[in-house]
Amino acid sequence: MPPVVIITGASRGIGAATAEWLTKAGANTVLIGRRRESLLQTENEIKLMGGRTLSLAIDIANSTDCQKSIQQCLDQFGQLDALINNAGIVEPLATIADSDPEEWRYNIEVNLVGAYYLSKAAIPALRQQRGRIINVSSGAGNHAIQAASAYCAAKAALTHFTRVLAAEEPLLTAIAVRPGVVDTQMQTTIRCEGSKTMPPDQIAYYQNLKYENELAPPSVPARSIAWLALRSPSAWSGRFVNYDDPDIINSAKKSV
Ligand SMILES: NC(=O)c1ccc[n+]([C@@H]2O[C@H](COP(=O)([O-])OP(=O)(O)OC[C@H]3O[C@@H](n4cnc5c(N)ncnc54)[C@H](OP(=O)(O)O)[C@@H]3O)[C@@H](O)[C@H]2O)c1
Repeated sequence: MPPVVIITGASRGIGAATAEWLTKAGANTVLIGRRRESLLQTENEIKLMGGRTLSLAIDIANSTDCQKSIQQCLDQFGQLDALINNAGIVEPLATIADSDPEEWRYNIEVNLVGAYYLSKAAIPALRQQRGRIINVSSGAGNHAIQAASAYCAAKAALTHFTRVLAAEEPLLTAIAVRPGVVDTQMQTTIRCEGSKTMPPDQIAYYQNLKYENELAPPSVPARSIAWLALRSPSAWSGRFVNYDDPDIINSAKKSV
């Protein structure tokens, strides 16, 4: 049986590109995102490539919908080999003093709690397959970005959640990955919304990334993420890795 991989945030950006690499490598995919129309675009691409896929339009901040998604995956494909917790939001882009509490809480629910809901529901099926959980974290979890406190806190927590998951689940491989700076809607949001709330030197950094062509295309980190989901060694469980680690890039070029 081909491996079966769930990927959240699969409607665009890094998630959509990862789903395409997984399909090229022969995996069946389950695509998760909130907007059905955008998910269907990824689904159509994958079907054109000859892949088998299932799209589930849910908000990962909803525990019940996360549980149902794992069951729908098992009903459709009979197994689950990897879960990629990639969906994320950067908003609210506001200082702690000026932030809206509901927006702040929702950021944590999407970036951290959603990964917990899906991981918890997926663990029994993943244990059977000696499977993997790949959490798409961020360098923002290691350094302070002003006006992005919820995002930074959630990513720091997601990386550490991965370490605890690895310690608790010896049958699984759990890895957090930093995808670099990538040319997606999230960076557009930072450049547009961040210009209203971030310090000038910080917003200039993000604007220069775009105008000096330093943002990676989503397909580059996506290939590493696909490789991590399909082939990463169990000895790496608990690690926080960079997408451009030469070991990962070279292995991904050979087998994904
Ligand atoms: N781009 C970067 O430079 C960068 C850097 C470091 C880390 N990352 C991380 O990489 C991951 C992917 O980011 P990206 O840059 O590809 O962002 P993106 O283009 O904004 O895509 C985000 C994806 O997540 C989905 N999503 C958002 N909230 C969701 C929710 N509540 N439930 C289900 N799906 C949801 C979105 O679809 P819907 O809106 O339809 O739900 C979309 O498919 C994120 O975890 C991000 O933090 C990105």
